[in-house]
Amino acid sequence: MTRLNAAWSKLRWSLAQRGLRGTMRTALGRLPRQDTTPGEEKPLLHPFDQRYGVDTSGLIGGGDLRSGHKNDVFNTAYYGMAPSRFRRVMEDWVADSGHAAISQYNFVDLGCGKGRAVMMASEFQFRQAIGVELNPSLAKTAEANLTVWTDAARAVCPVQILCQDATEFSFPEGPCLLYLFNPFAAPVVKRLIERLASEFADRPGLLDVIYFNPEAGEMFDAHAGFKLLWTGTVEMSEEDAAVDHVASPEDLCSVYRWGGV
Ligand SMILES: C[S@@+](CC[C@H](N)C(=O)[O-])C[C@H]1O[C@@H](n2cnc3c(N)ncnc32)[C@H](O)[C@@H]1O
Repeated sequence: MTRLNAAWSKLRWSLAQRGLRGTMRTALGRLPRQDTTPGEEKPLLHPFDQRYGVDTSGLIGGGDLRSGHKNDVFNTAYYGMAPSRFRRVMEDWVADSGHAAISQYNFVDLGCGKGRAVMMASEFQFRQAIGVELNPSLAKTAEANLTVWTDAARAVCPVQILCQDATEFSFPEGPCLLYLFNPFAAPVVKRLIERLASEFADRPGLLDVIYFNPEAGEMFDAHAGFKLLWTGTVEMSEEDAAVDHVASPEDLCSVYRWGGV
């Protein structure tokens, strides 16, 4: 791709994500800042990667994640979920007696990136854990990570990575726990909700959605088929806070249940 093409595709991404005003504000914000203190930078490698010998660290802006798919412009970014937050919400979900047994559930991470969350999900007794990723290079990294993870016998359920667009994914039979870490902007969330409503039309009560940083959460709120079970902030461990470049204590997580319409 020429530099001009790359610049044009980043501009299209920014306009789709932030609108004209936001794009201009971001461009201005990129001007060199004079107020950062040298030596305050956080480590780039997450302890999760050091501990398990995998590669899930790093922040890649959505404008740099090109796959050739029309939904590239709505890709927010790659960034791995703080493990402590993920485990807290998962343990709460598992402890909730309002759904069927976890062994019946398919766990699906739409926008799995390098696979950090899907690896952690495979430590629970799901029927299976599936990660879906649009960007081929990230999907390849996720697969390599998964090999390390499963070779170390960390997965207690079948686990796989699929390289495809989230709105083109066919949900397997049975109950589903869908996990989203703010992977894409509102137009893709809208299409996804239409798809969920059709795929789960005859499965009321059998779809739960955990949505971290729910930037398009109002679309679930507004849909008659989804009930908000819980929303709030999720504490992060000291270890995660010490290395996290993106998360803030105010980040929200929302949990929805599909009741059907
Ligand atoms: C914030 S990262 C989350 C990574 C992972 N789920 C986690 O929790 O650690 C969002 C990911 O969604 C992917 N993504 C964005 N749009 C997508 C789409 N339409 N279909 C599938 N994946 C998508 C991005 O490439 C990125 O890797």
